[in-house]
Amino acid sequence: MASKNKGKIHMRAQWGSNIGFILAAAGSAVGLGNIWKFPGRAYQGGGGAFILIYILIVAFIGAAVLLAELTVGRKTQKNVVGAYKALGHPRWKWVGGMGVLCGYIISCYYIQVGGWVLRYVFSYIFSADAVYADPNGYFSNMLGQNGFPWIGAVVCPLIFISATAVVLLKGISSGIERFSKIVMPALLAILVVLTVRSVTLPGADEGIKYLLTFDWSKLTASTLLSALGQAFYSLSLGMAIMITYGSYLKKEENLVKNTGLICTLDTVIALVAAFMIIPAVFATDVEPGIGGGFAFASLAGVFEKLPVGELFGVLFYLLLLVAALTSEISILEGTTAYVTEQWHWSRKKAIIVLAVSSFVIGIFYTLSQSYLPIKGIWMDITNGVQFPSFGDFMEYVTDRLLMPLGALLFCIFVGWVWKPKHAITEIEQHSVGFRLKKVWTVLIKFVAPAAIFAILVSGLLFGMSLS
Ligand code: TRP
Repeated sequence: MASKNKGKIHMRAQWGSNIGFILAAAGSAVGLGNIWKFPGRAYQGGGGAFILIYILIVAFIGAAVLLAELTVGRKTQKNVVGAYKALGHPRWKWVGGMGVLCGYIISCYYIQVGGWVLRYVFSYIFSADAVYADPNGYFSNMLGQNGFPWIGAVVCPLIFISATAVVLLKGISSGIERFSKIVMPALLAILVVLTVRSVTLPGADEGIKYLLTFDWSKLTASTLLSALGQAFYSLSLGMAIMITYGSYLKKEENLVKNTGLICTLDTVIALVAAFMIIPAVFATDVEPGIGGGFAFASLAGVFEKLPVGELFGVLFYLLLLVAALTSEISILEGTTAYVTEQWHWSRKKAIIVLAVSSFVIGIFYTLSQSYLPIKGIWMDITNGVQFPSFGDFMEYVTDRLLMPLGALLFCIFVGWVWKPKHAITEIEQHSVGFRLKKVWTVLIKFVAPAAIFAILVSGLLFGMSLS
């Protein structure tokens, strides 16, 4: 597609191959959420019952919204703000702007967490004993409990964001796509090795049984909402990402099939991650959990008990590193596409300014964990609302507010303003068949908005006790 850009004919970048696109989009979707959130949530939600509900939510709601995002992207061949204008609804462009903002804030903290993961790759190579000796102390030390966290907040995140920027500077097909084609198979290979190790541990069968047992009594409204929120987060929906990635797709590619493949890959990887984590923690008597404290501190208890545990530790943090890198690449690409197309910056300038600024802002995310006394001040500003830290506030604003709000407005836009029939025309060109178009229309107009509305309201009402 050529478009006029300040008098110059400007060729828009495209994916080189469909498999490259699938791996890049799956790379975006498969992130920390799959590996350190899903297994813990499946555990809390009672195992099999949660997993079943999660699969249904992805199949019906997640896939419907993902298909809509890819379709808007490919139809308009624009960034998320430009897309609304291109469809003739410039008044909606601020919904895209909200997505860009949300992506930018996530990028700030993802860089930091990616840096911590990198730190732990080194820790397990060189000084696993120091981690084992005091897992919690080691973790909070990295975050600045005993002095300015140079390594955790500055050095490692800087390496992480530099790697991201280098890939992005190479462009779409020779950067993002080539990188994804190399590291995604590596991610799968590591995941398989770790899962085989986990399920063959003595005592692992208890964990496997737990995941396959349907304990319906644990399936309450709040676990249902947790599954819904997890599905949206895991598929990277509600932000600038999937629209942008879809905008680099060729017209002859099959959007329906691609949506199915991305959802399947993301969900299978989350499921396998559950079978990697839960049997291992059952076998070693570690308490299953969610998030950083679990992934960085509790899991040391698992690695310590395994023969050649350091090796498995290195592999595990490499797995997290790949997952985090491909996700960070996609977040920054979404914002980069916006800045280059709407503000007419060069790609190089956009990437460098975005990378440097989100790196600098992100430092405060790590500092707020324990180094800076922001906690107290923050409580005053928020009138006593219990945000454990500035960092938690960033996560709250993105996961509970901007992301669901963006996704909700996006569904309303496609379902009621742009209209599903126009989307279906885009999907069905080049004689691509779309048998479920009636079902999809109902999903995008009614079911998905209602479900997202529930996430939004519950986030606002109960979201303060961040889990
Ligand atoms: N999907 C990512 C995960 O599972 C997290 C995420 C949410 C994300 N929104 C994103 C990643 C946007 C990249 C872009 O961890």
